[in-house]
Amino acid sequence: MNVKVFRTKEVQDLLKAAVNIDDLSGNPRLKEILNRLLGDLFKAIDDLDITPDEVWVGVNYLNKLGQDGEAALLAAGLGLEKYLDIRMDAEDREIGIDGCTPRTIEGPLYVAGAPLRDGVSKIDINADTDAGPLVIHGTVTGPSGEPVAGAVVECWHANSKGFYSHFDPTGAQSEFNLRGAARTGADGKYEFRTLMPVGYGCPPHGATQQLLNELARHGNRPAHVHFFVTSAHHRKLTTQFNIEGDPLIWDDFAYATREELIPQVVEKTGGAALGLKAETYKDIEFNFVLTPLVQGKDNQLVHRLRASAAA
Ligand code: DHB
Ligand code: FE
Repeated sequence: MNVKVFRTKEVQDLLKAAVNIDDLSGNPRLKEILNRLLGDLFKAIDDLDITPDEVWVGVNYLNKLGQDGEAALLAAGLGLEKYLDIRMDAEDREIGIDGCTPRTIEGPLYVAGAPLRDGVSKIDINADTDAGPLVIHGTVTGPSGEPVAGAVVECWHANSKGFYSHFDPTGAQSEFNLRGAARTGADGKYEFRTLMPVGYGCPPHGATQQLLNELARHGNRPAHVHFFVTSAHHRKLTTQFNIEGDPLIWDDFAYATREELIPQVVEKTGGAALGLKAETYKDIEFNFVLTPLVQGKDNQLVHRLRASAAA
């Protein structure tokens, strides 16, 4: 088939009817967005001569994506979440915000409600024989370098199998294992005592990996640790760091790696005195530089559906 029907009155009327564009009731913003997206899809079907069989493959894929609960995972894997970061970075540059700790994607595996402790937070609850001890610490400062008191640093990461508690298919982890929060004191300092993570891989039989296979792409991330940093007088920071030396650092399927987010890993001794499981441990210093509110507001706060559990 090499027909072109997109510009016909019949199709344009169909598009308008589908989103009920001429009716002022309903959700006008949704109508605007859906009108554009559906129109782009119709046009792509015309331009690329997408066959009915191909359309139904796509429709059925969406069903599997939903059944597997992987829409947010796919969003990261296709670069959509990174694209939103690129746009927020550009907006920051336009209003002169720079010199802060760079943002990077949140990913779909945060769980709200993890225990909050003052200063130091030990977050490894379950034993993990394949993971060595890791201390993560640093200072939260504002844009001029002043320590921020009362900031809450939330941290979450995978275990030695690359699995996150709450989402672990083996059921091996308790609810908030390797998740927790630390509140800074007057010195702005926070610390997590935990275990070294291993990189995450998409569920091998899930919809995301199925699509990635067709693209000849892997679905793996380098070892990394996620953070939210919140403070009453600053914008919320969503970021991660990668574990130096991981071979996938510059080959992350979710595109989260940034030059400034690869801190040095230092080997130290004295772990027993810190309550760690071995005398020798890995130490990462990672400082957070927050950005000011914009006209009294966090102009880039992201609302999305997040898992939550009771501590
Ligand atoms: C994704 C992000 C993660 O941090 C992770 O551990 C797994 C998946 C993601 O963006 O899809
Ligand atoms: Fe992650």
